[in-house]
Amino acid sequence: MAQPKFTTHHGMVDILPDDVRKWQYLEKLIHEEAEKFNFEEIRTPIMEQTELIVRGLGQLTDIVSKEIFSFSRGDDNYVLRPELTAPVVRAYVENHLDQRGGSQKLYYIGPMFRAERPQKGRQRQFHQFGVEVIGSDDAVADVEVIAFMIHIYNKIGIKNTTLKLNSIGDPDSREKYKEALKEYLKPNYEKLSDLSKKRFEKNPLRILDSKEEEDQPFIENAPVITDYLNEDSLNHFKKVKEYLSDLGIDFEGDPYLVRGMDYYTQTAFELISPDLGAQDALAGGGRYDLLVEEIGGQPTPAVGFAAGMERLFIACEELGIKLGSEKKVDAYIVTLGDKARKWGLQTLPKLREAGISATMDYMGRSMKAQMKDANRENAQYAIIVGENELDEGKFTLRNMKESEEESLSFEKIVNKLTSQHLQQ
Ligand code: HAM
Repeated sequence: MAQPKFTTHHGMVDILPDDVRKWQYLEKLIHEEAEKFNFEEIRTPIMEQTELIVRGLGQLTDIVSKEIFSFSRGDDNYVLRPELTAPVVRAYVENHLDQRGGSQKLYYIGPMFRAERPQKGRQRQFHQFGVEVIGSDDAVADVEVIAFMIHIYNKIGIKNTTLKLNSIGDPDSREKYKEALKEYLKPNYEKLSDLSKKRFEKNPLRILDSKEEEDQPFIENAPVITDYLNEDSLNHFKKVKEYLSDLGIDFEGDPYLVRGMDYYTQTAFELISPDLGAQDALAGGGRYDLLVEEIGGQPTPAVGFAAGMERLFIACEELGIKLGSEKKVDAYIVTLGDKARKWGLQTLPKLREAGISATMDYMGRSMKAQMKDANRENAQYAIIVGENELDEGKFTLRNMKESEEESLSFEKIVNKLTSQHLQQ
């Protein structure tokens, strides 16, 4: 085949009709289950102000320093959103959602953009679903957020996951820990990667998130943050663990889990799957009690998670889980001659009105070719119409699977197809 003239950008993929069915299945499941949890959907623009993402996520994070797609137009700086926590918080503050009362329990589904090196499970345009609960500092909120995340994977049948859990404390605890971490790293400062050297003064916690090989020996033996948590932070962490256990949700403590954005406080978690290879995080999240204020709102605690949808599908493939039903159509009208073709076109709306999915040939093909096409479209029934059928007002209804035919009036065909449809 000739090379196409135009292709998608590196790391950006088309989701083609055969694949879309599983996306629709997952999206429907998320909407249905979110409703059961009383989470409300929020939709924000694909582009945000660059400054929001820089302020929200942190200048020294990988995302901001290396991975954002940004451009300017006039005086405005645009960024393709790399995640939705900062944008949702921006929408919360800008639209005064606090005035709706109570905590805002929001969820979203949509595309995100990060200029990462593409590989299996890592794209430049990828999709997340996620939840942000804004306005509660109670461990119940942390645990409901985690429970929703696990619930979706359980519903789909992805059960061999590990929930990694940590607390990175409040600012007070974290300051003490940062000092201890710097003290520990200082003797080996020269051996750290350039990026970690940069992070050493301003944000040493980020060093724990480093992927650079030369940093790994120092990360492995670093002091752990859980030894530096103050009483409030310890209490919150204790409650989260207790409530998770009450719900029968297993977790594994990981004291080096700091996550990729600077907005986190207290609880941090990731859901890991052994079926994903190098990019093994299905989902991640945590508390971000200072972000609302950072973005210009009143001090408001919040917690959330986001999950990679492409990675969920990779896990499904590995586990042999098929999502979404196969393509099919209830009825295919097969016509012979112009009059019948016209009848077919006028009959399609009547079938659809009765709740029956229906199609016909768009290409003026022979009857034989139309039957072949009906098979290809996985039509359950063919309604075969020629001059004689039109004169008699009776049409041949062919059950494509059983290869059985009967001659019926149009009303009887509709009755039969609707009752069949209801049984499915
Ligand atoms: P994150 O860990 O950066 O967190 O992303 C969440 C999930 O998105 C990852 O676990 C992964 O499954 C997926 N993901 C991230 N980058 C890519 C990529 N390049 N290609 C494919 N999948 C990817 C956040 O985004 C936070 N906003 C989560 C959060 C919500 N924290 C609090 N609330």
